Amino acid sequence: MQIFHTVSEIRHCVQNWNSTCERVAFVPTMGNLHAGHLQLVREAKRHANKVVVSIFVNPMQFGINEDFAAYPRTEIADCEQLAIEGCDLVFLPSIETIYAPTAQTLVSVSQISKNYCGAARIGHFDGVATVVCKLFNIVQPSVALFGLKDFQQFAVIQTLVRDLHLPIELIGVPTVREADGLAMSSRNGYLNEQERATAPKIYQTLQQARDDLLAGQTIADVEERAISVLTQSGFDVDYFKVARRSDLQSAMPNDDALIILTAVKHGKTRLIDNLRLDR
Ligand code: PAF
Repeated sequence: MQIFHTVSEIRHCVQNWNSTCERVAFVPTMGNLHAGHLQLVREAKRHANKVVVSIFVNPMQFGINEDFAAYPRTEIADCEQLAIEGCDLVFLPSIETIYAPTAQTLVSVSQISKNYCGAARIGHFDGVATVVCKLFNIVQPSVALFGLKDFQQFAVIQTLVRDLHLPIELIGVPTVREADGLAMSSRNGYLNEQERATAPKIYQTLQQARDDLLAGQTIADVEERAISVLTQSGFDVDYFKVARRSDLQSAMPNDDALIILTAVKHGKTRLIDNLRLDR
């Protein structure tokens, strides 16, 4: 497995692969890899003969009071795991490589970035869209894979790829969960013992909401009940919303392709999760 830090190194390598008709899959990450990331790499190998993973903790997607400085950086262990998974190339750029001091360009996907996490984390999706666009231009993959735990992020990137006519196939990979249902996330490591013990309530509440919707309860009642259950269980609920999967607008009674989205603060840790529902 090769490890590169500069744009020219990676360009040169991918150009060589392209000249021998290798298909390149790309998995962008912020490192601190867990089983969810490794699942993305395994899935990537099914879609291409070369797999590139980037590890870059992107300062632009963190707000001023967020955890950029504390975000776990475990590059050596990450690279060891990636080598075992058969990753071909790891891109480990510096902040200056991605954001030259003279940089002026921002990529902003307006509408789909506005609600939910976008409302709570102002500028977050501009940071995600900008770095993903840069990484796509550097790596120039045929296919890119993202976890569906960050459902709104995936929708933002789908919109970006469509609007900018990027010739990249996007694949959303289902959320990998712990045995008790908690969605895997690098931020789970921030939870203390008691918070970790109660965190599975998030997924249980999503499942209950799905069952209640399928049983015919109204969207408003289901959302209200879920917020109350989570609040009583000690979570500070940012949102719990039933949305249309196509555009993430609030679901109407007759909509059938739905996604239930939630974000909560558990102690100091912000956790997100979602559940897909067809009715
Ligand atoms: O999902 C993530 O880890 C990040 O938001 C991403 C897509 C790597 C961009 O920094």
